Amino acid sequence: MTHPWWQNKAAYQIYPKSFCDSNGDGIGDIPGILSKLDYLQDLGVDILWLSPVYPSPMVDQGYDISDYYGIDPCFGTMEDMDTLIREAKRRNMHLVMDLVVNHCSDQHPWFQAAVQNREGKYGHYFYLKEGRNGGPPNNWRAEFGGSCWTPLPGSNLYYFHTFAKEQPDLNWENPEVRREICGMVNWWLDKGISGFRLDAIINLKKDLSWRDGPADSPDGTCAVSKMLPQTTKIGAFLNQLKRECFFPHDAFTVGEVFSIAQDRIFEFGGPSGYFSTLFDFGHCTVGRAGPYWHQYKSFDFQAWRDAVFQSQQNAGDHVFLSNILENHDQPRCPSFFLPEGDDSYEGITALATLFLLLRGIPFIYQGQEIGMRNGAFPTADDFEDLSTREQYHAALRAGLTPQAAMAVCRRHSRDNARTPMQWTGGKHAGFTSGVPWFPVNPNYQEINVEADAARSRSVREYYKRLLSLRKDPAWENILVYGGFQPAFCEEENIFAYYRTGESSGKRVLVLCHYGRGMADIPLTDPFLVLADNCGGLDIQAGRLRLKAYQAVVLAL
Ligand code: GLC
Ligand code: CA
Repeated sequence: MTHPWWQNKAAYQIYPKSFCDSNGDGIGDIPGILSKLDYLQDLGVDILWLSPVYPSPMVDQGYDISDYYGIDPCFGTMEDMDTLIREAKRRNMHLVMDLVVNHCSDQHPWFQAAVQNREGKYGHYFYLKEGRNGGPPNNWRAEFGGSCWTPLPGSNLYYFHTFAKEQPDLNWENPEVRREICGMVNWWLDKGISGFRLDAIINLKKDLSWRDGPADSPDGTCAVSKMLPQTTKIGAFLNQLKRECFFPHDAFTVGEVFSIAQDRIFEFGGPSGYFSTLFDFGHCTVGRAGPYWHQYKSFDFQAWRDAVFQSQQNAGDHVFLSNILENHDQPRCPSFFLPEGDDSYEGITALATLFLLLRGIPFIYQGQEIGMRNGAFPTADDFEDLSTREQYHAALRAGLTPQAAMAVCRRHSRDNARTPMQWTGGKHAGFTSGVPWFPVNPNYQEINVEADAARSRSVREYYKRLLSLRKDPAWENILVYGGFQPAFCEEENIFAYYRTGESSGKRVLVLCHYGRGMADIPLTDPFLVLADNCGGLDIQAGRLRLKAYQAVVLAL
């Protein structure tokens, strides 16, 4: 049986602005990434996903692209990029770029031309529509707040944007737009990158009736995301990308696909789906009770575990998911998925054990491998992220006190993941010799790569061990290609599953006590310990006694 080249790989996401600054301007850059390639290779990751490095006004930190064929000078030059591609290849690593084609920047020449001449060629690159009764064409609310429609000066025409008003949506109904994008995608693939992460890709197809949605906010607006599930005809667009670009290059593609029904993941990520794989966000949004962060219910272990089980079972043997605990839009996992005070070495490595050995591709976000925590944001002004600002005001509008609104934002903010990478205990955590664009987390003297390496129980060493276990020829058949089966579902505070062999009849049990105190599990089969974050198993009379947040990997 032959497997696609990317299936046994592990991926690492770099947020370039905050990874490593080489020239002291306070902004991470491509030469900075180059200087850390050996570090990444040593960790055991082989697919590197770079968040956008294209020229951008940075309204949404690079997710607003003004030139698809360039590198923003703050990140370096195209030569730097070529060197990075080459140097990654030399280490058997694969570069994956961020493809942001639902929208571009309002500074992109296409949009500038559209504003100048609304009837001309570029007017049709965007969605321009007449307003209604002196207001926008409908009641859709943008992802970062406000209407999805912004008026063009001196007319009754509005342009459509799913995200910020500086991110006008491209009109994928227009074949010329699709041709432009496919040409650009092939240009990058021909350069030697190995694939793309597809940003906000589910938004590509609009509900062209443009009718009002059911209000879900006191102002009568409806979240734009609510208008997506109806759009079943996205396949034509995605298949064109696949047919003309991804397939001929044997590219790796991972879709950021939010809010599709579970029964559609096959269509997106099955063997003849649009993408190689898609992120599983199911467990990240457990507790969500409305469009706003302040509506989240408190963390519920069982619901969270069951969401993971459900995704895994739903994916079955046909869809190969990409499993994440963190990314640049999520809080840090020790702060988010562990109860307060439980962000210990055991808690953090338990999370790693559970997620790195699921069926699928593990994605690690920069700093996750040393257990970086949520940032410290003393006041609302300390947030950079435009969605956090909007969420803060939404919480105030809903009647929360400023203190309570801050607590919500500190828990959920995307900025938690965007503080600079902590390399050393030195000035600015060794991220820059200048002044960092975004303050370093005040905990950097305790949490950094150097300090972690000096500890007898290093989080990074544990990540390394898991990653090499997954690749070990003795276990690859089970841990990469094998099946998934929940285990000990009835036990309280236990998160456990089997990985099963394709044919061998061998099984691996991933077992974690996700709580304080002790847990006690019946275990009579003989086993071999493949990993254990507590350094010792207590087994008596056919029962395994697990310490707080003890995670073990046992071959049965
Ligand atoms: C994706 C990105 C996010 C960005 C948004 C708009 O969700 O991950 O960071 O703000 O798309 O491009
Ligand atoms: Ca720099």
